[in-house]
Amino acid sequence: MKVVKKIPLILLVVLVAMQFYRPEQNFAQGNHTKVFLKQTNPPEDVKTILQESCYDCHSDNTVYPWYNNVAPISYWIADHVQDGKKHLNFSDWENYSPKKAAHKLEETAEMVSEGEMPLKEYTWTHETARLTAEQIEALVEWAEQSKLLYELGPQPE
Ligand code: HEC
Repeated sequence: MKVVKKIPLILLVVLVAMQFYRPEQNFAQGNHTKVFLKQTNPPEDVKTILQESCYDCHSDNTVYPWYNNVAPISYWIADHVQDGKKHLNFSDWENYSPKKAAHKLEETAEMVSEGEMPLKEYTWTHETARLTAEQIEALVEWAEQSKLLYELGPQPE
């Protein structure tokens, strides 16, 4: 079959053509998590964990790996970031109601203690994002405590 023989060539052409389309990058100027950090006041170790293990998908700023220059990996990464931010965006904290903030912190404690976050496909390639048992404990403790702040009110400034 002639067509079958042409498939590799067609795929190559498609792959090359894909390189011309670059998904928009998730890039924030300045201190994009200021409100979140001020309100939830994480200790230094938790701040570092959030930065290294969560912000790439849950904030307005992603530190991209080099292979983000290669399509279709770039499409796949953009999709993860978009989906992650839709569910939880620490850079959008000022627009979260106390109820929503409390709920997201509860989910954070749950997902992290169950080992569901950070996503496996992320920690495969981001070694520093992997969490130790102590890091999980620290993150969960902070999330549960700051959740209470929102539930008990008044709002922390
Ligand atoms: C590689 C991207 C990625 C990383 C890194 C990541 N997440 Fe997620 N996260 C997602 C995606 C995508 C979803 C939505 C789909 C799902 O639940 O699997 C999600 C969902 C969540 C949710 C559920 C929010 C809701 O209410 O629906 C929480 C909470 C969460 N992540 C917390 C975290 C925390 C905390 C970290 C860091 C320890 C983290 N994530 C790291 C991609 C990521």
